[in-house]
Amino acid sequence: MIDQLGDLLGQLNALRARAIAELEPITTSSELDEWDTRYLGRNRGELKALSSVMPKLSKEERPVVGQKINAVKAALERELAAKREALHQRELTQALEQERIDVTLPGRALPEGHMHPISRIIQDVTKIFVEMGFHAVQGLEVETDYYNFQALNIPADHPARDMQDTFWVNPGQILLRTHTSPMQVRTMKQMRPPVRVVVPGKVYRNEAVDATHEAMFHQIEGLLVDEFCTMADLKGCLERFAQELFGEGRRVRFRGSYFPFTEPSAEVDIDCPLCNGEGCRICKYTGWLEILGSGMVHPKLLREVGYDPTKYRGFAFGMGVERIAMLKYGIGEIRLFSGNDLRFLRQF
Ligand code: FA5
Repeated sequence: MIDQLGDLLGQLNALRARAIAELEPITTSSELDEWDTRYLGRNRGELKALSSVMPKLSKEERPVVGQKINAVKAALERELAAKREALHQRELTQALEQERIDVTLPGRALPEGHMHPISRIIQDVTKIFVEMGFHAVQGLEVETDYYNFQALNIPADHPARDMQDTFWVNPGQILLRTHTSPMQVRTMKQMRPPVRVVVPGKVYRNEAVDATHEAMFHQIEGLLVDEFCTMADLKGCLERFAQELFGEGRRVRFRGSYFPFTEPSAEVDIDCPLCNGEGCRICKYTGWLEILGSGMVHPKLLREVGYDPTKYRGFAFGMGVERIAMLKYGIGEIRLFSGNDLRFLRQF
């Protein structure tokens, strides 16, 4: 029995020595896992195999062998944990080494974008009016027939509808707005005077597209309503705007016109910035360029929104952003703005 005990303890010592020797050259986690299963595995590990003799031992031998098994197991687990940590550190160091960033390498320049010329004009124009005390608000691109036409004094059979051929969503009821003027009515219905708003946004017309006409373009609407408001205020405000946008000294001309929602109405021209009013190809040798439509808010609209037309007056104006951009940058083709051709856009 003593011999058997000595043999068993010897085997356990040998197992420990062999296991530790085999641990030494291991370099990967998967090899380490294999080692773990081979020696410490709960089912077929070598230590477990040696422990299986326990029931055959005598009462005196059992605690001696049990303690030895536990000691070997603890020793191997310690070695395993230390090796795992060492491997982990090594793998981490290797990963850091491989992924190291050379901060001395020259950077790769990212292509730098900039604002689209139409967005730029919208921002510039809005800023000019905000500095004069207007608020910038947004309207709806999908509108009702009521706000786009009827409330603006354009009933169903009105010839002014021919000027704004419409994309209908639901014929006779819902449409893509043909101008930003519906926001005159919406704004006045929402607030009491004094009102001062500018409304930039997209508008849609079923147009035959050419060098100066798009089916989708941008407008900026302006509306001011107050107790004391005259045509002189409209003129002063738009003159200031034209000079801010096109340069000090620009002359402004008001030509009588017609819009169903303003009375009186006027088209506004500036003297051509390209030839200084002398006459050139761009201004068709007239010396003047049209920039917007305007007028005093029609009393019918004031009544429609519940304002007292004997107390309040207002002026309104609406400009085409693409046309303004064409004048400002001397561009003869409106379709360039929607073309997304970088050769064109990079020039701004
Ligand atoms: C209007 O749309 C009126 N709502 C403007 C207005 C507002 C008048 C407030 C009075 C008071 P008009 O249809 O003229 O008006 O269009 C205004 C501007 O939009 C034009 O001067 C032009 O610059 C631009 N525009 C019109 N149609 C097109 C188009 N198809 N493509 C590009 N720009 C256009």
